[in-house]
Amino acid sequence: LQFSEKAEQEFQELLTRYPTKQAAMLPALLLAQAEFGWVSVEVMDFIAGRLDLPPAKVLTTATFYSMYNKQPVGKCHIQVCTTLSCAFRGGYELLEKLEAKLGVRRGETTTDGNFTLSEVECLASCGTAPMFQVTDSKGEMEYFESLTTDAKLDAVLEKLNAKLKELPDPREMH
Ligand code: FES
Repeated sequence: LQFSEKAEQEFQELLTRYPTKQAAMLPALLLAQAEFGWVSVEVMDFIAGRLDLPPAKVLTTATFYSMYNKQPVGKCHIQVCTTLSCAFRGGYELLEKLEAKLGVRRGETTTDGNFTLSEVECLASCGTAPMFQVTDSKGEMEYFESLTTDAKLDAVLEKLNAKLKELPDPREMH
């Protein structure tokens, strides 16, 4: 594997912000996830090599944190919060509506590779519950908040559908 020129530049900048190369492991893994679509064993080995870390250490860390996708996800990864404030204000209903609209269960990816639906814990946006976060395969992240009506949810899905063709398929990114 190899970073693109742009990602390599970001990687070098990242290194200047940490006292040691090894300390940059978490953001370096996020950068690699954005670059290669998901964090496979190959990606973990690559990061271990770049940071002079034992591969086992990178594997343990990537396995521990749920923010690293160890399987390919869809072009848009929808992460619905179902912690307290969101649960009280319709987080589970929102999740069920998405399951019905996308035709997948939580934890699954649509067969066309466009969407992955996940249930996650508090995303620190409790005042605007219920909400979800979407991370796309270009590494952009966006919050969609106060999703209290079907119309609001449909508008978000329309927006996401409109950008699908510009997004790379994570299954083909490395
Ligand atoms: Fe959902 Fe905090 S409880 S964002």
